[in-house]
Amino acid sequence: MTEKLEEVKSNLQDETKTITTRKDAEQLKIKYLGRKGIVNDLMKLIPALPTEKRAAFGQRVNFLKIEIADIIDELITKVSAEVIPKIKTELFDITLPGKRPFIGKKHPITQTIDDIKEVFARLGFDVVYGPEVELEYYNFEALNIPTDHPSRTDFDTFYIRDDVLLRSQTSTVQIRIMEKQKPPIRIIAPGRVYRPDTVDARHSFMFHQVEGLFVDEGVSFADLKGVLNQFIKTYFGQNIRMRLRPSFFPFTEPSAEVDISCSICGGRGCSVCSYSGWVEILGAGMVDPNVFKAVHYDEEKYTGFAFGMGVERITMLKYGICDIRLFYENDIRFLSQF
Ligand code: PHE
Repeated sequence: MTEKLEEVKSNLQDETKTITTRKDAEQLKIKYLGRKGIVNDLMKLIPALPTEKRAAFGQRVNFLKIEIADIIDELITKVSAEVIPKIKTELFDITLPGKRPFIGKKHPITQTIDDIKEVFARLGFDVVYGPEVELEYYNFEALNIPTDHPSRTDFDTFYIRDDVLLRSQTSTVQIRIMEKQKPPIRIIAPGRVYRPDTVDARHSFMFHQVEGLFVDEGVSFADLKGVLNQFIKTYFGQNIRMRLRPSFFPFTEPSAEVDISCSICGGRGCSVCSYSGWVEILGAGMVDPNVFKAVHYDEEKYTGFAFGMGVERITMLKYGICDIRLFYENDIRFLSQF
């Protein structure tokens, strides 16, 4: 029996000489020490031995097991160490391109707001913010919107209480700023607005607007036109044209809706511009004297203009995006294109 154990050990020693890889060394370990390995086979011989020899033999097998484990572990360490110089000489090609780490991006809406901020910063506008949960006073009353105006109903505005709501327009910030500061005022106010619209390709119950307000002595409609033209040319490109159509807002007089030549078809006519060649991008006008009264500005002394644009809308026009819902789905395949 003892010879058998010696034989196992010397076989192992012979085998280790031929092994050069970690994988083969691990295999060797399984062959000797695994559940169906050689050492376990030796253990199985014990019951067949005479009773008085069993204990001694068992002890020797256990001792051999420890020796074998030491020999193989040493072998594993040795062959693993040899892999490193091998990587240097054979496997590691420093000319191969590396894996590019994935870098996140700003959401297209954030990018558009950043672009808008930049254009207006150059024209001397400061960026200000107002609350999304707003008093009815700032969303309607101070903006000269009569109590029976349809936009005040809960078909058009989310109410939290009778006098508290989710703002439906960023024009609220006009009032908040004028209450706090005296002219000259030159601000833009980006942010979220909420309206209970049914969601479809063009509507969402939440979207973004950027409000603009310029108040000083002698501000004219020509200034409004000049500033908007500058913005449109910078944001959409020099070849884009602008036109103003008379319109109505309770807080501006006169009021205008501003169109640009369709950036999708270049003004030739397509489904986006309903084959008219023009698309509306914002509302604007001269601040109504009633609004100045609400904030205790001298309406004889000051004039001003205001405008409000939809951020999703101009982003869609700039990039040819046909469905507003894409902005809110957080699909990386969409977002990574910007
Ligand atoms: N608040 C208006 C809207 O949401 C846009 C607007 C802003 C119009 C400022 C005129 C002046 O439609």
